[in-house]
Amino acid sequence: MNVDVLLGLQWGDEGKGKIVDVLTPKYDIIARFQGGPNAGHTLEFEGIKHVLHTIPSGIFHPEVVNLVGNGVVIDPVIFKQELDKLAPYDVEYKSRLLISKKAHLILPTHKLLDAASEMAKGKNKIGSTLKGIGPTYMDKTGRNGLRVGDILSPNFQKKYDALVAKHKNILSHYDGFTYSLDELEGPWFEGIKTMKELEFVDSEIYIDEAIKTGKKVLAEGAQGTMLDIDFGTYPFVTSSNTITAGTCTGLGVPPTKVGKVIGIFKAYCTRVGSGPFPTELFDKDGEDMGREGHEFGATTGRPRRCGWIDLVQLRYSIMINGVTELCMMKGDVLSIFDEIKACTKYIIDGKEVNHFPFDLNDSEITPVYEKLPGWKKDLTQLESLEDAPDTFKAYVDYLEKQLNVPIRVVSVGPDRKQTLANS
Ligand code: GDP
Ligand code: IMO
Ligand code: MG
Repeated sequence: MNVDVLLGLQWGDEGKGKIVDVLTPKYDIIARFQGGPNAGHTLEFEGIKHVLHTIPSGIFHPEVVNLVGNGVVIDPVIFKQELDKLAPYDVEYKSRLLISKKAHLILPTHKLLDAASEMAKGKNKIGSTLKGIGPTYMDKTGRNGLRVGDILSPNFQKKYDALVAKHKNILSHYDGFTYSLDELEGPWFEGIKTMKELEFVDSEIYIDEAIKTGKKVLAEGAQGTMLDIDFGTYPFVTSSNTITAGTCTGLGVPPTKVGKVIGIFKAYCTRVGSGPFPTELFDKDGEDMGREGHEFGATTGRPRRCGWIDLVQLRYSIMINGVTELCMMKGDVLSIFDEIKACTKYIIDGKEVNHFPFDLNDSEITPVYEKLPGWKKDLTQLESLEDAPDTFKAYVDYLEKQLNVPIRVVSVGPDRKQTLANS
């Protein structure tokens, strides 16, 4: 069997957690391939609202294995907190939550380095979640990192101490940055102890075996294509490859074994943190969108910036990921508007631009909008897309034509059940 991929096409928070949870019954294994606790994936069902950061979003389905791949970076403190939060739900995870030995560990000093780096950048800061993501991936590519497999090494403490010494040296160069490491280390080693209760695997071999034995695997992306380290709005991005190719490097899936690529997008657009966002709204429409969509970060609680859907940006994301099918999320949020807008092209320096430009940071981009009629009806109780207002169905059709990829799922609320098939 090939490995299917589900990933975000915008700036993250598209609703990946919800759809992975909805699709999990079709799969044997759900595997995260990149990112770390900067992610916040929300699942809602049977009156429960649950946010996952490192644990894959298939964890609530008892038959399914959840794998944290080698491309992920893990903070043992947050990981332990996530496991503790599962306790009230009677989720048996010990036999079916696996961690790659090659996943890298986020040290307390990585978080300090993140904070120091953001402080030094001042008004140019990335708006990082401050979870230590950037510094951990820097140590990975710099060939200094500590990996999950190292936990089992008799030299683990020594390796930890050596890396911390390196970090302390770097931190000493940040003027005015003070910290207290002692209080952070106790919980970190507690987290390591908890992690040791789980099975560490060679995820690439595990996945290979799964493919050969006909198991169905879904790779769960974190963040979104516009936050990809190579193709996102650099430097206002995260530090991993969030795109389909990240599945190959972050799990060990051969490119020839990638199956469906499910791209997920909001019926509008949001971004949290700094960086360019061509269709961002600074008016009442943006405010209303944020309020109606409860647009606050699932990890940091920060308000998300809101704007209309950007088809130039989405076409680029579809291209880079080789998306084969789409899920449209949060259509219900747009029910408040008389008129919906979709950006079909940009004007840059007086010229029409239909492609996603290299430099979004320093160029003045004016989005050109097409206007579509709103539906002004509650969608959250719909049980079938057929019963939706015609203007809503027309919006879905319009996007399908513009994006040239079928929209297979239309989500009209945060709950598992508020998910409609589009045939
Ligand atoms: P993720 O990071 O891509 O998993 O997305 P988040 O969980 O960070 O953010 C998506 C938010 O939208 C969460 O609060 C979800 O519960 C919520 N959500 C998901 N789908 C829908 C939908 O169709 N309608 C509405 N109103 N909320 C949704
Ligand atoms: P999920 O998986 C939205 C953003 C941060 C910041 C930038 C870099 O829930 O969609 P980092 O902590 O990686 O150094 O932050 O990326 N960011 C996200 N925005 N959703 C996420 O994850 C994000 N993870 C990181 O806000 O702008
Ligand atoms: Mg999120």
